[in-house]
Amino acid sequence: MKVVLGVAGGIAAYKACTLLRLLTEAGHDVTVVPTASALRFVGEATWAALSGRPVHTDVWSDITEVPHVRIGQEADLVVVAPATADLLARAATGQADDLLTTVLLTARCPVVMAPAMHTEMYEHPATQANISTLTERGVHVVPPASGRLTGKDSGPGRLPEPQELFEVCRRELERGAAPAHTDRPAAARPLAGRRVVVTAGGTREPLDPVRYLGNRSSGKQGHALAAVAAARGAQVVLVTTVELAASAGVEVVSVETALEMEHAVLQAAQDADVVVMAAAVADFRPAEVAAHKIKKTHGSGTDGAPDTSAPDVSLVRNPDILAGLVAARGEDSAPVVVGFAAETGDDSGTVLDHGRAKLARKGCDVLVVNEVGSGRAFGTDDNTVHVLRQGSEDTLEVGPATKTEVSEAVWDVVADLL
Ligand code: CTP
Repeated sequence: MKVVLGVAGGIAAYKACTLLRLLTEAGHDVTVVPTASALRFVGEATWAALSGRPVHTDVWSDITEVPHVRIGQEADLVVVAPATADLLARAATGQADDLLTTVLLTARCPVVMAPAMHTEMYEHPATQANISTLTERGVHVVPPASGRLTGKDSGPGRLPEPQELFEVCRRELERGAAPAHTDRPAAARPLAGRRVVVTAGGTREPLDPVRYLGNRSSGKQGHALAAVAAARGAQVVLVTTVELAASAGVEVVSVETALEMEHAVLQAAQDADVVVMAAAVADFRPAEVAAHKIKKTHGSGTDGAPDTSAPDVSLVRNPDILAGLVAARGEDSAPVVVGFAAETGDDSGTVLDHGRAKLARKGCDVLVVNEVGSGRAFGTDDNTVHVLRQGSEDTLEVGPATKTEVSEAVWDVVADLL
């Protein structure tokens, strides 16, 4: 396939070299179109050597070949990574002041853009408006990752890893002929006008002022679900226990315990169209929270000697937030409720058997089942899931895929239900 790799002038341009490698190794014919400022980060010789093709930034080179028209017209996919704030602005306003922007105007194939910049620039209403415009025209905008940026600061704005971008490209190429800005606009923002609530992370149930009962959930899947919903036009409330940065436009409610999460979710769910419970909610909490740190030697025995036995911790049940949401629904069955289940197979059944039983028991509309154990799912960036729907025997298998891709698949299923 003919792929155009557009590279704008950001520090993440170096990651585009790996993306280029992945694309050429997959057998694609890649033309790299950097902007002039991209060449200040990675030089022409690198792009030419890695792609095996000449590299130009302006429309005046090889003028007899009319490259600014031909490259775009012939492409099966255009991917811009990194897409800087400036490039997004020029693309959104239809400027044609260099080769990359003219290619974007002449392309009739799917277009993927991966914004990467400082958090302030990404969150600025001007950049967000440009992203909305591009998304409405059918461009697949990949939400930036969160984490360490060029300096000491961190937040949303990092270019996702090349492998993740490669997977997005592979899927767009498979999807094929649906061109940007012609018949895709409605499909690009299927959640426009929808209110969604997403929970993320594991709850922490305090034992005393320094200790808690917790679990291994990293919150990455929930944060990815929120980012994809926002990119698809939804109004998103993210109820989370972790401090991962959230993407722009996502309203974050920070909580710690299951009870705090329940309160926040019930409040946000009042006018929501969808609630996705990706959080790992503790089923039990300590019956009592000690006001002071529990000491190794606690109190004294009957003989007055220090008591060195281990203290007993009694637990009480936490509310099942998801089951409560399902039970509280009226005749219109709103909101759509999506559950997540981390399962391991055992003597009584496979991961899928447990998933089906849980879907029936919980009564939610969709259950996303992932297999955990042996280093799978918790804290990793990749995930394999089975998506089960109430009233359907079919199972949608997704993965191994990034948590962003899993999120995209989940929102595809939810959009169908809406
Ligand atoms: N959940 C919830 N409230 C709880 C426990 C779980 O809302 N107190 C939600 C989770 O967010 C998840 C779904 O229920 O979306 C399934 O969670 P899971 O822990 O797998 O279910 P349990 O009912 O606790 O079943 P198990 O006995 O397997 O732990």
